[in-house]
Amino acid sequence: MTLDAVLARIDDTLPQALDRLMDLMRIPSISTDPAFKADCARAADWLVEDLKSLGFDASARPTPGHPMVVAHGGSGGNHLLFYGHYDVQPVDPLSLWHHDPFDPQIEDTPKGTVLRGRGASDDKGQLMTFIEACRAWKAVHGALPGKLTIFLEGEEESGSPSLIPFLKANAAELKAEVALICDTGLFDSRTPAITTMLRGLLGEEITIRAASRDLHSGMYGGLAQNPIQILTRILAGLHNADGRVMVPGFYDGVTELPDTLRAQWQNLAFDHARFLGDVGLSVPAGEQDRTPLEKIWSRPTAEMNGIWGGYTGDGFKTVLPGEAHAKVSFRLVGSQDPVILRESFRAWVRDQLPADCSVTFKEHGTSPASAMQINHPAFEAARAALTDEWGLSAAYTGAGGSIPVAGYFKTYLGMDAILLGFAKDDDQIHSPNEKYDISSFHKGIRSWARILARLQ
Ligand code: BES
Ligand code: ZN
Repeated sequence: MTLDAVLARIDDTLPQALDRLMDLMRIPSISTDPAFKADCARAADWLVEDLKSLGFDASARPTPGHPMVVAHGGSGGNHLLFYGHYDVQPVDPLSLWHHDPFDPQIEDTPKGTVLRGRGASDDKGQLMTFIEACRAWKAVHGALPGKLTIFLEGEEESGSPSLIPFLKANAAELKAEVALICDTGLFDSRTPAITTMLRGLLGEEITIRAASRDLHSGMYGGLAQNPIQILTRILAGLHNADGRVMVPGFYDGVTELPDTLRAQWQNLAFDHARFLGDVGLSVPAGEQDRTPLEKIWSRPTAEMNGIWGGYTGDGFKTVLPGEAHAKVSFRLVGSQDPVILRESFRAWVRDQLPADCSVTFKEHGTSPASAMQINHPAFEAARAALTDEWGLSAAYTGAGGSIPVAGYFKTYLGMDAILLGFAKDDDQIHSPNEKYDISSFHKGIRSWARILARLQ
């Protein structure tokens, strides 16, 4: 059977596939940091060249931010649109990495062989699973597996600012019958998953200012406002003792989980003790009347991601700073509206400012939550293909992270996306020493070959 020939080809050429992934990982495409703009363009060009070598008509399309890669190839059958992102998160704190984050290493660990480096999992390793499946298919059949459009973004990790205008301007070119997104994980290390719900995101940066300059804390302390004190007091009031978010109107649009989904999730038997135990924790925090899976998949949250101000260097300095800063993000569910919430949050902060203090806000991207309708037959076809590869049937899951494009494909292209990927909970995405299991990469490529065979 020809699928077997493709799978054998994937097995035989795994070392070369890993070499290509490592080449891509050596390009530090950190989208949020302007210092890496040229590297983002280089990663896009690398992908264009690789896709051209597979016979795709590929190009890097400029945007006000980083380029989008669009490639068309193949013919016949269902038209499939595949999405991944080539940008990565910043690497700090660099001192906690065991190797240069952009000098990928293959490493044996007690749990198996892994590829380590920034982007190994999120999302370079994942997006290359699809491209490698296409490569093996082409090598065996002399043609690509049906009509394909590959769409790779370079701004996913920084809130996808160019995505909506790009989708609007290119809707006719990008629209297909089925959308595939490879940027999510397995349910557990043996069980594949199709993610049907993603949370949205609202990112805000706050600066509170008081005196016109930094002051001696002995000369002015007690008389002058301290912006760090004001900032921390406001942020401490973001949650009440039950873990509820206190911004007025925050829960507008939050829907309860339908009973069928609640029952399905209960059946998944999520081991929250292990999930927390793996990162050195034991007691679930947050809303006490919610199950752990609900908390990470279907409840909205407010999180402080960074806070700074005053003197934080070595030694000590008795300073009363003129400014204090924080980065805060909200994960959104249901029909919570990020734009309305941004205004409610800002008003809530302003209302609490004492005299002599002022606040400014900087926005860091918004995306609404998304939930997929799974009635298109392609969902069950993909699920069956995953079962063939993994020997266990794929779970329909939620995911706590955000992938803005998933909702936008629906709004702007009218397509529900099949979200599936091979990341593991311990991949340390966004953290030091990110890794992707070689088995995730290998079985990921094999999974796509099986899915492509069924979706033709
Ligand atoms: N791949 C992740 C999203 C994800 C994480 C899905 C975990 C499933 C499980 C994605 O690249 C990501 O991290 N997105 C950012 C988006 C944000 C910066 C707009 C996120 O969720 O923080
Ligand atoms: Zn990602």
